[in-house]
Amino acid sequence: MARGVLLADARQAAENLSIFDPASPSATAIRDLAVVVLFITGAIFLIVELVLLYSIVRFRRRPTTSPNEPPQVYGSYPIEVAWTAAPALVVFVLVLIVARTEWEVRPRPPEPREGDNTLFVTAVGKQWWWEYRYEWWNGRKSNVVAANELHIPISGPPGSDQHRPLFLELRSADVVHSWWVPRLSGKTDLIPGRVNMLSFAPLEPGLFLGQCAEFCGTQHANMLLRVSVDSPDEFEAWLANQEKDAVEPANETLRQGQKAFLRETCVNCHRIAGTPARGTYAPDLTHVGSRQTLASGMIPNTKENLIRWIRNPQIVKPGCLMPAFQLSDADLGLIADYLTSLK
Ligand code: CUA
Repeated sequence: MARGVLLADARQAAENLSIFDPASPSATAIRDLAVVVLFITGAIFLIVELVLLYSIVRFRRRPTTSPNEPPQVYGSYPIEVAWTAAPALVVFVLVLIVARTEWEVRPRPPEPREGDNTLFVTAVGKQWWWEYRYEWWNGRKSNVVAANELHIPISGPPGSDQHRPLFLELRSADVVHSWWVPRLSGKTDLIPGRVNMLSFAPLEPGLFLGQCAEFCGTQHANMLLRVSVDSPDEFEAWLANQEKDAVEPANETLRQGQKAFLRETCVNCHRIAGTPARGTYAPDLTHVGSRQTLASGMIPNTKENLIRWIRNPQIVKPGCLMPAFQLSDADLGLIADYLTSLK
């Protein structure tokens, strides 16, 4: 299967989904919290189990034991106080540690201003893909609308002038989704009618994968996340290209492909900037040819897969909201050529 190939070449670096291998300060804070909580609860588990084992062995029934019950203790003030105070203290300490981490990983978003090296993106969860609206970069308004593949610049440590934090505003268009790229950030839900915020600053370049982490319907498992952490120059170049209108068809075949696209109902849902296609319901296709995958990370973005997808999306991703439009093979080929040319 094509999907297997995709996962195979992405596997080496990107398939690492471990929270114990963080690539951003906020993911590191969450890892540290997990380790501390694991140690505290592990110690409690150990103590309880040791006392239990000791009691089982030490007070086991023996033939020589007298048949009388051991002395019964009721309402012992010191014991009552001890087993109320000790757990309360443990819980209190855990609450403090969690609150501190929460404080650390959820800074308030600042006002965008020039030269702030800060990226503001709105992520909208939809059944079953992600829309990314780039709002501000470095104090400059952006109009980029991307789908499924989030590009962000690499950051330096907080406090350095290479610090380039991302503030991701999380919204949902339908049901509850959850944004989780384990090596970059904590898991945060996208809830209809609510705005949640996520912030992190990636310290490593490369591709980071994740997955919608809240059951959101039949294709929940295929609502994959891809974050490309680019060098500052790569990111600037990517953003500048995405801000442009779609390229004009360079030859007759592509012109016919564009015609076929605009003639069909594609335009009701999809947008291609610079053409009459203005739909906003489905993924923006202005630069669809520059993406690595289709169908929210499911399959590599090749002409063959594009044809397969347009011919019948319900075979590739059953239940998704795009129907099969019964296009002729000729139109399928032309449209796929045209879309692939939209770099
Ligand atoms: Cu979206 Cu699960």
